[in-house]
Amino acid sequence: MLFLDSSVPDEVTTIFDWGVVCGVTTNPLIIARELGAIDLETCIREIVARSTGPVSVELTTETPEAMLDEALGYHAWAPDRICIKVPFSEVGLQVIHKLAGREIATNATCMMNFSQLYLAALAGATYVSLFSGRIRDMGYEPGPIITETRAILDREGSPAKIIVGSIRHVADVVAALQHGAHIVTVPPAIIRKMIWNPRTESTIREFNEAWKNRSQKE
Ligand code: E4P
Repeated sequence: MLFLDSSVPDEVTTIFDWGVVCGVTTNPLIIARELGAIDLETCIREIVARSTGPVSVELTTETPEAMLDEALGYHAWAPDRICIKVPFSEVGLQVIHKLAGREIATNATCMMNFSQLYLAALAGATYVSLFSGRIRDMGYEPGPIITETRAILDREGSPAKIIVGSIRHVADVVAALQHGAHIVTVPPAIIRKMIWNPRTESTIREFNEAWKNRSQKE
């Protein structure tokens, strides 16, 4: 399955119309980069209205009390749709566990290895997010981590779903799915690269030209 990694409302509309994504992930960096100093509530309500499935909204506070308050505020915007993105840490685990106790969906984020994913799943995270591109920046491969995590979550009957994010190339999407990711969250530019192929374009052009120039056969 694919989620859309974007906060741009028009991209959300366009790409959901293709029927290929079933959730949205945002983060403070994406929102700041794509939309600047917008009003977060307006932006997230707009994304919810233009999409289906979970919409991940990330916490930006850092103490357990402030994070819980912030999470409950976001959750109230669309209780069935908002998934609270919780940066992974000791405090993050506490917040994930508390939100799970209230049946509020969470996406444990910014994770780089198996131990983090496993602990987040044990704490009750709905989704556990591994950052493919940032892992490769550090010089190791995300593939084996995805395979190992998937095997152990399956063996223990964990309901947590692995999301692979920080996608930089089409090959990252393919590799994540082949290694066992439940979901890959993909930026719009990479989804467009998954569509485009010069041989497909030239084949369609060839077919349509032939149709336009067809002649009467007796
Ligand atoms: C995933 O949920 C994150 O929003 C995102 O993929 C982070 O990726 P980056 O490494 O491009 O910041």
